[in-house]
Amino acid sequence: MCGIVGYVGSELAAPFLLESLKRLEYRGYDSAGIALIEDGKLVRFRRAGKVRDLEHDLHGAAYSATVGIGHTRWATHGVPTDRNAHPHLDCHGRIAVIHNGIIENHAVLRERLENDGHVFSSETDTEVLAHLVESLYDGDLLDAVRKAIGQAQGAFAVAILSQDAPDRIVFAKRGSPLVVGRSEGAAYVSSDVPALLGKASEVQFLLDDELGEITLDGYRILTLDGRPVHRAPHRVSADPVAIQKGGYKHFMLKEIHEQARSVGETLREKLDQGTRLLGMPALEQVDPDFDHIYFVACGTAHHAAKVAEYLWESVLPVPAHAIIASEFRLRNAHITPRTLVIAVSQSGETIDTLMAVRSARSRGAHVIALVNAEQSAIERESNAAVYTRAGIEIGVAATKTFTAQIAALGLIGLALSRVKGAASEAESSRELRELALLPGRIVEALRVEDKVRTLAERLRHASDVLFLARGALFPIALEGALKLKEISYIHAEGYPAGEMKHGPIALIDEGTPVIMLASRGPAYDKLLSNMEEVKARKGFVIAVSDAPEDPNLVRLADEILPVPTSSGISSPILFTIPLQLLAYYVAVSLGTDVDQPRNLAKTVTVE
Ligand code: F6R
Repeated sequence: MCGIVGYVGSELAAPFLLESLKRLEYRGYDSAGIALIEDGKLVRFRRAGKVRDLEHDLHGAAYSATVGIGHTRWATHGVPTDRNAHPHLDCHGRIAVIHNGIIENHAVLRERLENDGHVFSSETDTEVLAHLVESLYDGDLLDAVRKAIGQAQGAFAVAILSQDAPDRIVFAKRGSPLVVGRSEGAAYVSSDVPALLGKASEVQFLLDDELGEITLDGYRILTLDGRPVHRAPHRVSADPVAIQKGGYKHFMLKEIHEQARSVGETLREKLDQGTRLLGMPALEQVDPDFDHIYFVACGTAHHAAKVAEYLWESVLPVPAHAIIASEFRLRNAHITPRTLVIAVSQSGETIDTLMAVRSARSRGAHVIALVNAEQSAIERESNAAVYTRAGIEIGVAATKTFTAQIAALGLIGLALSRVKGAASEAESSRELRELALLPGRIVEALRVEDKVRTLAERLRHASDVLFLARGALFPIALEGALKLKEISYIHAEGYPAGEMKHGPIALIDEGTPVIMLASRGPAYDKLLSNMEEVKARKGFVIAVSDAPEDPNLVRLADEILPVPTSSGISSPILFTIPLQLLAYYVAVSLGTDVDQPRNLAKTVTVE
């Protein structure tokens, strides 16, 4: 959740650190800080607030340091205050620590260190590490860090700077992500690749219980027991432009507009000439005798899984259930070696999903990860991975990765039905022909933007919004409500439309906005009946529909947001677009921080 960056090179460290922290701010943004080795002395600057506030504090200061670490925080232990901001120091201000994750045994360690005379100045678990390293330091920083993490329990990625070893940054990882990189004359450590785009020419993703150091000579990685690690590095392929707003006011809007491409890329890799399904290597090892499928995922990724739960019912002869990852371990889901688990995660780092993967594997299931980030923890702990090709998503509210997940899950479903020998050739080729048209239809769907912008002005005054749908669009109602909640802070709920009369109808009063996803299909007439029920209570009906000219719909709806006609996998993707735009424009109209909404973080690495 927090962003970590470290630099050793020949250029000024402070501007690099601030720029990198801005790129990592989607990971957490309640406080920020840096530590530098300035004229042989460790100096630290930190504060609650955004990176730009820290930059403002530092403005005009001419620091000549070429070695430093920086951190942007998402508070877990201790409220976001200046005092709790990272870096944290030891008693003598010679060692600075930045940390992502949680030190679970921090209370025990703290008590022991306090008994030994260490004086703490924050409420964080991280400060324990600074004092622990201090207590273990006898001239070799790397060795002290190795011993310290040997005593620490929990998940962490740390970078440590010491005035006594001023030419290096020591790092260690367990659980939380960490990457090191190098270029001519400089080396870097970071919690995520975006900080290093345009800087490092190659990167190496660390595995759990690896540690090491960066110096002017590059990076050195060791295992916890001191063995050197040599793995082929990865070239950095993403373009730094991918993490710029490209003329859009917010990353979220840019990412909404990128969906024709991100869905197109996700499909392209899995299709031959856009129309024939290619064999996916990850599916080749699946035992055709699988008899049950579970999806595990959180938040938006869970909604994508839930869409697949509906869609796969008609292509696969075995049951498929989407379970929220944090609930998965608590339930006695029936898992056998014939169970197939699909873990869906944009980041590939979400701890709840990772824990569900571990639990499923320990019970013998075969696990396939569907991830947007290669080399992630969830991919590593699964049997195999399939990728969404949405590119880096910076906006905290997931948009383009969601539609890419639905597209990929659609194709995985078709591919698995072939593994099962259940695919009807005619059905899958009809679906694939539809999918070939999908990127163009996404562009068409985006044309609703002006209408949505106007409508958003009316919704900004709402205190509750209901999203209703049936069938495979029900998870899209959930997603529409989640998006609105996340960035506008308006209370919103998604329900199957048929459930409305069993409770939520009590919320409908004069003018209550009710957004109804009315897709021409078997449930269309029933949805129109639900619309009548809303109208009868004077609700304000917004129909999102692929039948915008149907006179019955025109009669019942106060507003209609048209969606291009489609079916199968394409339909939930296209219905998502007006809802993303609606959440975005309501939030803009309310003046909230769209890309970094309050309390949220892009990658949730705590349970
Ligand atoms: C919502 C959102 C979150 C994530 C969830 C899972 O906009 O972004 O609900 O979908 O935290 O994240 P990943 O997909 O990285 O596992």
